[in-house]
Amino acid sequence: PAQDPGFPQPTIHTQRAYAPDDDFTARWTRADAKQLKAMSDPNAGPRENSMPEEYTMPTIPQDFPDMSNGQVWVWDTWPLTDAKADQYSVGGWEIIFSLVADRKLGFDDRHTYAKIGYFYRPAGVPAADRPENGGWTYGGLVFDPGVSGAIFEDQSFSHQTEWSGSARVFPNGEIKLFFTDVAFYRDANGANIKPYDPRLVLSVGKVHATKQGVKLTGFDKVTELLKADGKYYQTGEQNPYFNFRDPFTFEDPAYPGETFMVFEGNTAMQRESAKCDKADLGYRPGEPNAETVEQVNASGAPYFIGNVGLARAKNKKLTEWEFLPPILSANCVTDQTERPQIYIKDGKYYLFTISHRTTYAPGIDGPEGVYGFVGDGVRSDYQPLNRGSGLALGSPTNLNYAAGFPFDPDYNQHPGQFQAYSHYVMPNGLVQSFIDTIGTKGAFRRGGTLGPTVRIEIDGDTAVVDRTYGDHGLGGYADIPANAELRR
Ligand code: FRU
Repeated sequence: PAQDPGFPQPTIHTQRAYAPDDDFTARWTRADAKQLKAMSDPNAGPRENSMPEEYTMPTIPQDFPDMSNGQVWVWDTWPLTDAKADQYSVGGWEIIFSLVADRKLGFDDRHTYAKIGYFYRPAGVPAADRPENGGWTYGGLVFDPGVSGAIFEDQSFSHQTEWSGSARVFPNGEIKLFFTDVAFYRDANGANIKPYDPRLVLSVGKVHATKQGVKLTGFDKVTELLKADGKYYQTGEQNPYFNFRDPFTFEDPAYPGETFMVFEGNTAMQRESAKCDKADLGYRPGEPNAETVEQVNASGAPYFIGNVGLARAKNKKLTEWEFLPPILSANCVTDQTERPQIYIKDGKYYLFTISHRTTYAPGIDGPEGVYGFVGDGVRSDYQPLNRGSGLALGSPTNLNYAAGFPFDPDYNQHPGQFQAYSHYVMPNGLVQSFIDTIGTKGAFRRGGTLGPTVRIEIDGDTAVVDRTYGDHGLGGYADIPANAELRR
């Protein structure tokens, strides 16, 4: 395709598969990520979307309903899944897990107070026949006080919190809940006494479905699985602002009998001496719009070194794991590749991960959204979807104007810029996400509840919004339908 002057061609990626334990790591390069700005309309005016409509989530109205009926803030949410990411109802109930926090807190203070809660609703009801807010009943917190904090050797934490993960259900009603167990050590002014300590953990419990609803039992013990190693995955000693979280487990039909996990990490470099290399930039030979490695490393971009990690279970109980090299790095592209998941369709492997506009490296810009990569295996030379950019589904955004913040969106921004985050791609291309902020400076409303489910049509190395789904593309609020059932 013809390129605007000033923009490079994206990197060539073969999609070729490698063994899970190979040390090949696919790169989401600067040349790839520059395609995001390349497809943004430089003439889009104030409050208009500058990104292509086919990759943009329809705008969510500001009068959205609240799924918890005022009980809790809700954000990252995940269903009950099997090894293939099919979504289960149990005994006639759909069940989801969400990060929740007290509504007396400001929504931006949620991260250090997050706890995992759950919701349930009757299965098999079409979205159009449900209450507007999705019709969920809030079941409460999964863990009793003290349970998730017990793993930390140093009990002097100032905050202890539960971050995202995933939930696997088994035929006997057992649930393996994988999540991120986090301790913060801060002084009264909020400064770190020592770096925060995120660990990937497992807790096992049981689901009980009756006519009245759903109860969870067990979940009284947490087993630590993995701590960042400093070799593949950056540690708090290397960078106090490191990211290490969001485990998602699955089986790969190419390696029967094994269980794998993807998670968010950072490339294991010392913060102050981090450097990117030619392959991270990914320019084609003779590219007239290439940057030099020296320019990029001098720009501050090496502070932004997200990756997607891979681990393999060493036992059937999934209580022992080993790290494998990362499957994707975004060195000098973005600092956060969050909530990664593997999605298999038509024999192709899709890696989806979410990223923020504000975590892009200097010289790179793109919307809040879910990004996708396709290859021939879990570890492969991943091709970023949609014109080589990686953007699978973004919130409506104007890259010609500043972002502002969810608590103070820029005056000229599209009101939907912060409308959705923490997207999770479900069977049949359905995508759920939570609402952060809708509106512009001085006239916005905070979310803290799930947005409308939308659908993307995934085909080869493209994904486009299905505007025939729901109401011009917007489906039911908080609609997370099961596509499989466990009878109890
Ligand atoms: C995404 C996220 C996750 C993390 C959680 C913490 O919204 O940043 O990566 O687990 O939120 O609140």
